[in-house]
Amino acid sequence: MPSVLLFGATGLIGSRLAIDVKKAHPDWPLTVFVRNTKVDEWFEATAKADRIVHGSISDTDLVRSLSKEHDIVVNAITSFDGDFIANVIAGMEERPEDSKGTLVHVSGTGNFIDNGTTGAFNPNGKVWNDDKEEDIRQITRRMFNGGTDVPTLEAGVRGKIITYIVCFAVTYGSNIGPAPNLGVAYNIFTHNAKQHGFVPYVGDGTAVASAVHVADAVPFLSKIVSIAGTEKPTGSAYSRYYILHGERVAWKDLSVALAKVLYAKGTVSEPEPKSVPAAEAGEGEVGVLIASNMLVKGDRAARLGFKVTHRSILDQLQEDLA
Ligand SMILES: NC(=O)c1ccc[n+]([C@@H]2O[C@H](COP(=O)([O-])OP(=O)(O)OC[C@H]3O[C@@H](n4cnc5c(N)ncnc54)[C@H](OP(=O)(O)O)[C@@H]3O)[C@@H](O)[C@H]2O)c1
Repeated sequence: MPSVLLFGATGLIGSRLAIDVKKAHPDWPLTVFVRNTKVDEWFEATAKADRIVHGSISDTDLVRSLSKEHDIVVNAITSFDGDFIANVIAGMEERPEDSKGTLVHVSGTGNFIDNGTTGAFNPNGKVWNDDKEEDIRQITRRMFNGGTDVPTLEAGVRGKIITYIVCFAVTYGSNIGPAPNLGVAYNIFTHNAKQHGFVPYVGDGTAVASAVHVADAVPFLSKIVSIAGTEKPTGSAYSRYYILHGERVAWKDLSVALAKVLYAKGTVSEPEPKSVPAAEAGEGEVGVLIASNMLVKGDRAARLGFKVTHRSILDQLQEDLA
C-alpha cells in the first residue's frame, strides 16, 4: 500500500483532501503534517489519518526526512515558497531508483494572469491550456507560483521522482476542516480590503478572474493521488499538469459581492467597492492580480473527469466568509 504524506492538512484544500484520500483508500497509510496542536482529534476521528506529525515549514530536517519516507507526497501547504519545495524534492530524490516517490503539487492559476494594468477585459488575451505542453513549458519562476512549479517540473523531467501538478483557480467554498482557514485567495482579498478600508477594483473592473469551488476541485486532486498510487506515469512532466477552473468572474462583480459581506462584518467601512488605478490596487503582486485577466482552460483535466457542479463564487461568498 502506498503511504501518503499531506502537507497543509488543516487548509481549505488540504482538510478536504485528507478526508477524500482515506475514504477512497482506507488501507493507504496517511500522514498529516500540521503545526496546529489542537486538531489531532479531528484528524483521528473524522479524517481517519494514521499518523499526525507536528511541525512547520521551517523544520527543514523533518520535512526532508518525511518526504523521503513516503511514497506519495502532497504539497497543499505553499505554492510560493521555493525553498520548501526544493527541500521536499531533495528528500524524495534520496529514495532508491526502484521505489521512486511521487510528488503531487497544488499550484494556482495566478501564474497565468496577463499582467494587465487597466482592469479591462482583454478579448485577445492568451488562454493558457493544460492540454498544450508548450503552454506549461512557458511557466517561469517569476510567475505567481513559478517558484514552486518550475522546480517541480524540473524534478519531473530529471525523473528521479514522478510529479503531478494540479493548478487551482481562485478557490472558494467552505472549510470543512478543524481550523477556520479561508484559503489563500480569500485571505489575500480580505487582507487587501482591510488595508484599504474598502474593496478595490481597477478601471471598469471588467477584467476577469477564473474561479473554482473547492468541492469541485478536491475530488479531482484526490483522483490524481489515486492515480499516483495505482498507475504508471505516462507522458512528460509537462503533460501531468492539470488546470481546474469553473466560471470567469469580472473583478468588479467579485468586488461588489465581497464589499457587501466585508462591510456587514465590519472589516471595511464602505459597502460598495471603489475603482482605483492599478498602482493603488494592492501591494506588489496583489495589485497586479486585481488589474489582470486570468484566462485558462483545463481541457486535459476535463478529459480526466473534472467537472463543475457547485454554484458561483458570487452566490457562495457570503456563506464562506460569514
Ligand atoms: N485558495 C486558493 O484560492 C488557492 C488557489 C490556487 C492555489 N492554492 C494553493 O493551494 C495550497 C493550499 O491553499 P489553501 O487555500 O488550502 O490554503 P490555506 O487554507 O491557507 O491553508 C494553508 C495550509 O498550510 C499550512 N501552513 C501555512 N504555513 C505553514 C507553515 N509555515 N508551517 C506549517 N503549516 C503551514 C496551514 O496551517 P495552519 O492551519 O496551521 O495555518 C494550512 O494547513 C497553497 O499552496 C495555495 O497557494 C490556493
